[in-house]
Amino acid sequence: MSISVRVSTINDINALVEVECSDVETWHHYSYKGRGEPAKYKELTPLERMMHGGPWMDRLELAKYWRRIERLGIIPLVAELDEKIVGHLDVIFSDELPLGSFLYLDVLKVHKAYRRRGVARALIQEAERIAGDRKVIFMLVSPQEYDGPSGLTYRNCGFEKAFDTYDVEMVVGNTVISQEIRLTPITLAKEPPVKTHSMVCGWYNVSLKMWDNLANPNLELTRFLHERQLATSLLVEGNTYFLCIWSRLFDPTTGSIALWAPEPLDKKELKQVFQACRALASCMGMEKIATRTIEQYVLMLGDVDFKTKIKGEPYLIKKLVL
Ligand SMILES: CC(C)(COP(=O)(O)OP(=O)(O)OC[C@H]1O[C@@H](n2cnc3c(N)ncnc32)[C@H](O)[C@@H]1OP(=O)(O)O)[C@@H](O)C(=O)NCCC(=O)NCCS
Repeated sequence: MSISVRVSTINDINALVEVECSDVETWHHYSYKGRGEPAKYKELTPLERMMHGGPWMDRLELAKYWRRIERLGIIPLVAELDEKIVGHLDVIFSDELPLGSFLYLDVLKVHKAYRRRGVARALIQEAERIAGDRKVIFMLVSPQEYDGPSGLTYRNCGFEKAFDTYDVEMVVGNTVISQEIRLTPITLAKEPPVKTHSMVCGWYNVSLKMWDNLANPNLELTRFLHERQLATSLLVEGNTYFLCIWSRLFDPTTGSIALWAPEPLDKKELKQVFQACRALASCMGMEKIATRTIEQYVLMLGDVDFKTKIKGEPYLIKKLVL
């Protein structure tokens, strides 16, 4: 059986959903309070299906997600075995601080019934060919587990550890926004500031994709989950910071944050910005702020009172020879 890889189109949606759903053994109802009773797939709403793994779990949601694919110029690859779609991989080109320009490999999945036949390897090889065409010097990925199937697959394909991630937290406490800081709304049309600003925390994805997720939230999902979300610019001494705070899934007392700070980083300004962030989180009814960062920023976040909770899964890199 031969594996072929091609760029996917919106007409592949049903097959893509089948690949993603192959991993779910039991479906459940969901509400903003959490997981409910087991149910059949057809009894669930599109949003309930999404709770099992994102927009790939439902064809209507995936059709909406296709707009994001187009907006970000994502290349959605699919692998076929005897003309049946059995795997997919999203390839994203990004040029962002502090990493430079690279190909990011996102949402790799192979149908459960077709694993260990080289499907993922074929998708990753095609991504590498695209990287060569785009003349980028490395590919980056954030696998679910370094020592699990995802990490082992990428390591088998020549990827190695790039940098560690850290989950950090701080207590919100009682604080006020300094008089020196001005708040202005972020306009949704704003281009991602990824070449002027580093995402110092919010490393749940690369900077380009995090910005897009937060600037274009799925409002139906936000309503369904009773999620609280706030995006604002903070002006400090003529410098602009971009901050997003949102409530954690099923836990309104904890806020997650992503912050884009102008380079070079200014510790004094960052202190003021995080103080404002705590005050805003407090107004939103949060007791704690939790976020994810990378090696490079963990000491700086420690200086503004974040405590490291756990060392997370590392990002992996494959350097390419041009
Ligand atoms: C991870 C995943 C994509 C691998 O797909 P696959 O098509 O089975 O992978 P391949 O057959 O191309 O495997 C290539 C190599 O990776 C390694 N590998 C893959 N799956 C592995 C596993 N479960 N255990 C150990 N090694 C594994 C092996 O070295 C394998 O080579 P080998 O079969 O000759 O020993 C698939 O298991 C999957 O979809 N898992 C669920 C979703 C997921 O984890 N996605 C990754 C998100 S980053």
